[in-house]
Amino acid sequence: MGNSWFETVAHAQRRARRRLPKSVYAALLAGSEAGATYRDNTAAFGELGFAPHVADLSGERQTATTVLGQDVALPVVVSPTGVQAVHPDGEVAVARAAAARGVAMGLSSFASKPVEEVVAANPKTFFQMYWMGSKDSMVRAMDRARAAGAVGLIVTLDWSFSHGRDWGSPWIPEQLDLRAMAKLAPQALSRPAWLLEYARARSLPDLTTPNLARSDGTAPTFFGAYGEWMSTPPPSWDDIRWLRDEWQGPFLLKGISRVDDARRAVDAGVTAISVSNHGGNNLDTTPATIRMLPAVADAVGGEVEVLLDGGVRRGGDVVKALALGARAVLIGRAYLWGLAAAGQAGVENVLDIMAGGIDSALLGLGRSSIHELTPDDVVVPPGFTRAPADRAR
Ligand SMILES: Cc1cc2nc3c(=O)[nH]c(=O)nc-3n(C[C@H](O)[C@H](O)[C@H](O)COP(=O)(O)O)c2cc1C
Repeated sequence: MGNSWFETVAHAQRRARRRLPKSVYAALLAGSEAGATYRDNTAAFGELGFAPHVADLSGERQTATTVLGQDVALPVVVSPTGVQAVHPDGEVAVARAAAARGVAMGLSSFASKPVEEVVAANPKTFFQMYWMGSKDSMVRAMDRARAAGAVGLIVTLDWSFSHGRDWGSPWIPEQLDLRAMAKLAPQALSRPAWLLEYARARSLPDLTTPNLARSDGTAPTFFGAYGEWMSTPPPSWDDIRWLRDEWQGPFLLKGISRVDDARRAVDAGVTAISVSNHGGNNLDTTPATIRMLPAVADAVGGEVEVLLDGGVRRGGDVVKALALGARAVLIGRAYLWGLAAAGQAGVENVLDIMAGGIDSALLGLGRSSIHELTPDDVVVPPGFTRAPADRAR
């Protein structure tokens, strides 16, 4: 890895910002409206404290677990992100890194690489879908993912098309044609290392969505697919049950923020849920996921796997989430910044940072395994958790 190694995710983020064209970096950072949820997701982990011991600590610490039936070395899953143009190897580099560290990954239906290539690089791949298009097209995408060997389905439901950002949204072209390249040239030319990587790969950032290919084999552009999604009527719980029945295998519903929805998801027959607000990219001012986790884990943790994503930047954050009832977490921006900073090695670097941080926290807490963590291991300040108004009274 040489001098591309970084010691924390914050370093990877700084490197990503220096290395990527401005609009690509802005697309990674994302967030919506005032960014209140985006900030709270991370800040809330900082409000939680640890309650460490100093003697009788454990010489060996165990971090392996299972997620959606897959054996994984860490309670950390690579979250699906439909982000393109970060690195020429894209999701395949991410899959190789995840496989090298023994972790599972979610592949976005908006990803830039075909599911077949990604599963070949990491057999522990879950395919992610939104409720979009016709039922026929959803069945086609699921059949293709299953045939490719995807071992689970992630259905993401927390998206309400809230696009404005107080700090401005990047301009992203429909296609990288000559006109778009001319417009993007000044920012791309100011990032020679990023350009060189694409030049070496003899490719251009690809803005199509191969996993949403139509029956005639053509794939829509990112924005073409997005438009189709926007014009699809939102699903009912019966639709979710239909999806679950069509898929048949392990099924993760991503985007839960409330106990009543968590219960409905259980009734719909899901295997797992993720307490998630799409990394602060959906309805702004939705509280941090870690504030909502305890109530959801309490309510349904005995019936389905409860995961969490949003704001995880350190191994210590993972341990806090597990102590408060999560089985595992998913990470988004952390690995995207690693990918931008150093490709596959950068994603491995981020997973190593997570592993090291989990190990340190277990050592300090006197735990020999992630399965021993309890709420007693963290100091929760008064007023930390959040619930809808009818419950908070
Ligand atoms: C740039 C970007 C693109 C994303 N695209 C998707 C996607 O295509 N599908 C999905 O389920 N979630 C998507 N997400 C949400 C992530 O899977 C995850 O929920 C979120 O990033 C977690 O928060 P974190 O970035 O703070 O770790 C995206 C997030 C980001 C930042």
